[in-house]
Amino acid sequence: MSLSTVSGRPRRVSRIFTVYSLRPLSGADGGGYTAVSPGVRAYENGVKILMRAALIYGTLLGNTENVAESIVEELKPEFEVELVDVCQVTAPDLNQWDLLICGIPTWDIGQLEYGWSDVYDDLDSVDLDLVVAMFGLGDQNAYRDTYQDAMGILYRKLVERGARGNIGFTPTDTHEFEASDALVEGRFCGLAIDEEQQPDLTESRVTEWVAQIKQELAELQVGSS
Ligand SMILES: Cc1cc2nc3c(=O)[nH]c(=O)nc-3n(C[C@H](O)[C@H](O)[C@H](O)COP(=O)(O)O)c2cc1C
Repeated sequence: MSLSTVSGRPRRVSRIFTVYSLRPLSGADGGGYTAVSPGVRAYENGVKILMRAALIYGTLLGNTENVAESIVEELKPEFEVELVDVCQVTAPDLNQWDLLICGIPTWDIGQLEYGWSDVYDDLDSVDLDLVVAMFGLGDQNAYRDTYQDAMGILYRKLVERGARGNIGFTPTDTHEFEASDALVEGRFCGLAIDEEQQPDLTESRVTEWVAQIKQELAELQVGSS
């Protein structure tokens, strides 16, 4: 997968990342892309490549929306990320962005939140060309066997449909649960937040995670899969 198709899509200038420190490609990789600063993909054939980013969240009671707003604030100033309620998008809409941060709570014992569920049902007809990072909300005490399942279910589907993942994975050691579909090789496939049992940890978790994904995105070798 490549982000190069960015240049072929309609531009939404107000929704691109903040741009700074642009410099042309040089060095041993000899072509393609390099990450100059978060969200900036330097030049391809002399054309400046920019990433457009959205944080798309689903929520029933507002917890995920609150965390989403914190993440968007924390991402500034390097990233200007559009905040989008999942109920406003359909699966084919997703490719208008180059980076998606997807926020999803688990509901109904291991199920997707309903807005995301509608998008999920249509994803099989969409080939994605974007980078994805996930965060999830759950309750590790009341739902020990399905903790954060929705984050994992959605993540796997997005990657299956072509999204590039492996961004923002986090350790499980500050969570206590029996089972989770959100685990990939022993780590959560994104940021796991528990507003019911560990609300005091949310702020620091968000801060640390945003710093992590800024770093990981900056290091992304865009153009490799
Ligand atoms: C009926 C019900 C079912 C839930 N099922 C799960 C679950 O299976 N796994 C989990 O981790 N959390 C589960 N939760 C907890 C929610 O994910 C949690 O409260 C979350 O913060 C809600 O986010 P929201 O306010 O954005 O909707 C459930 C909560 C309720 C009320």
